[in-house]
Amino acid sequence: MIPFKKWFGSKPQGEELIPRLDSDNIPNHVAVIMDGNGRWAQKRGLPRVAGHHSGMKNVKKITMAANAIGVNVLTMYAFSTENWKRPKEEVEYLMKLPLEFFPKEIEELIANNVQIRMTGWKEGLPEYTLKAIEDAIEQTKHNDGLILNFALNYGSRKEMLSGVKQMAQDITDGVISADAIDESLFSSYLLTNPLPDPDLLIRTSGELRISNFMLWQLAYSELWFTDLCWPEFSEQHFYEAIGEYQRRARRYGGL
Ligand code: FPP
Repeated sequence: MIPFKKWFGSKPQGEELIPRLDSDNIPNHVAVIMDGNGRWAQKRGLPRVAGHHSGMKNVKKITMAANAIGVNVLTMYAFSTENWKRPKEEVEYLMKLPLEFFPKEIEELIANNVQIRMTGWKEGLPEYTLKAIEDAIEQTKHNDGLILNFALNYGSRKEMLSGVKQMAQDITDGVISADAIDESLFSSYLLTNPLPDPDLLIRTSGELRISNFMLWQLAYSELWFTDLCWPEFSEQHFYEAIGEYQRRARRYGGL
């Protein structure tokens, strides 16, 4: 039986929906590609941004669900380095979401010991977006519960290239030697450092690809896809994904 954590504030839904999960095999780090906001809205005759707004509300729900079963890190892919190509109005709308999300939710997140983090480039983000997220990071820095990590202005190839360039510089400067490069040293040059690699990747909306998300870090992650769009992905679906994860045998190339 899952030792259910009490959530302070609005009651987590889906407690009764938790299937018989193995509390000794909860993924440490779950990463989510929150896809399908636009399609969800269009299907309902709403503007695309209405889907993003609904998607934002779902971040809170799934955070609660993850916290309740003892996930330690939940990474949400909120904006990629490629998303700047979208129409200006949509980008602006997405950039303003943290200004609504954090003031509304921060009290409850603090009460539940959640730590906010960000993985991505600060450069390029509007000042107000960065301030909203940095304030939330500061306000939750003494917490030691679930890490809610926003991948914002993040792209994996760029991350790896900048890590490689920094390593080359450090070799030139005598900080490291080329011989010392191994997986762990390389990982330490990535933006995700010091977070552990994801154990489980969830992608919504039926797209079966990774889309430049944590290419190195996902090497041995279990992948779980659903046709549901992100705004309709509920706690129950989250627990279904965890259940499926628990039925998989992770072999890391061994037998
Ligand atoms: C992809 O769906 C989704 C995004 C690019 C944005 C995801 C962001 C959120 C859910 C909100 C994050 C919350 C905070 C507080 C930062 P899409 O619109 O590309 O879907 P489509 O493929 O149907 O068009």
